[in-house]
Amino acid sequence: MPGIVYLVGAGPGDPELITVKGLRCLQAADVVVYDRLVAPGLLEWARSDAERIYVGKSRGVKAMPQEAINRLLVERARQGKVVCRLKGGDPFVYGRGGEEAMALQAAGIPFVVVPGVTAAVAAPAAAGIPVTHRKVSASVAVVSGHDTSPTADVPWAVLARMGTVVCLMPLSQLEGLAERLLEAGFGPDTPAVAIERATLPEQRVVEAPLGELAAAVRRAGLEPPTTVVVGEVVRLRRWIAGERTGPLTERPASYQVP
Ligand SMILES: C[S@@+](CC[C@H](N)C(=O)[O-])C[C@H]1O[C@@H](n2cnc3c(N)ncnc32)[C@H](O)[C@@H]1O
Repeated sequence: MPGIVYLVGAGPGDPELITVKGLRCLQAADVVVYDRLVAPGLLEWARSDAERIYVGKSRGVKAMPQEAINRLLVERARQGKVVCRLKGGDPFVYGRGGEEAMALQAAGIPFVVVPGVTAAVAAPAAAGIPVTHRKVSASVAVVSGHDTSPTADVPWAVLARMGTVVCLMPLSQLEGLAERLLEAGFGPDTPAVAIERATLPEQRVVEAPLGELAAAVRRAGLEPPTTVVVGEVVRLRRWIAGERTGPLTERPASYQVP
């Protein structure tokens, strides 16, 4: 009897933001393969006898190469194991989940895809920003900030026609990102925000006009994981978040559930 691989989105950070289906798959697993952005608290919900395999980057140590992860999933499933491959956010949004699914498909291993709550939507939400809002923004683009050169695989010129731009992995080239968006036609006064460790109690938010965002983020010393949002929807924050400083995804202490 072959095993099975569950490709599960772990959500953006807060362990409770995994889906019910994702949690059930995690609890059923003999083996949990997880990476850096998966909240440690989530692993506590795995069976105590489950094998836990970390494949992410850690200080000074490179992440396991993607091909080796693919092989590991196939190998454990061939041993008849139930494998939960836990990935931060959604497995198919900048998560290389598609590559893992293709490897499993090619090897004839049964697998299930369990979408997760992506940081592209959850990080703005946790800061009080809806990515679309009637009469403010009817479109949203999600881009990677990994390469912000003019020749990068991102249609920069098209972005100015989008209501909202969400950028994942924005920090290493934040100045370049702002430059590309300004060239594309966004005004320097366009509202923009960077959200660090969204949905977690340590969440930090830096808001500044697009032309000043990079300097403000550097001053504040934001670190990954951080998501950037650019567009008029950022202005809604003051009405939605009001005086709240923590993540809007957090229940107040008096409303805890068992
Ligand atoms: C490699 S991408 C993976 C995205 C993930 N698959 C998803 O759907 O959210 C990693 C990027 O996601 C964003 N991200 C993930 N978790 C985040 C969080 N808690 N707060 C802010 N941004 C986050 C950051 O931009 C980070 O650099």
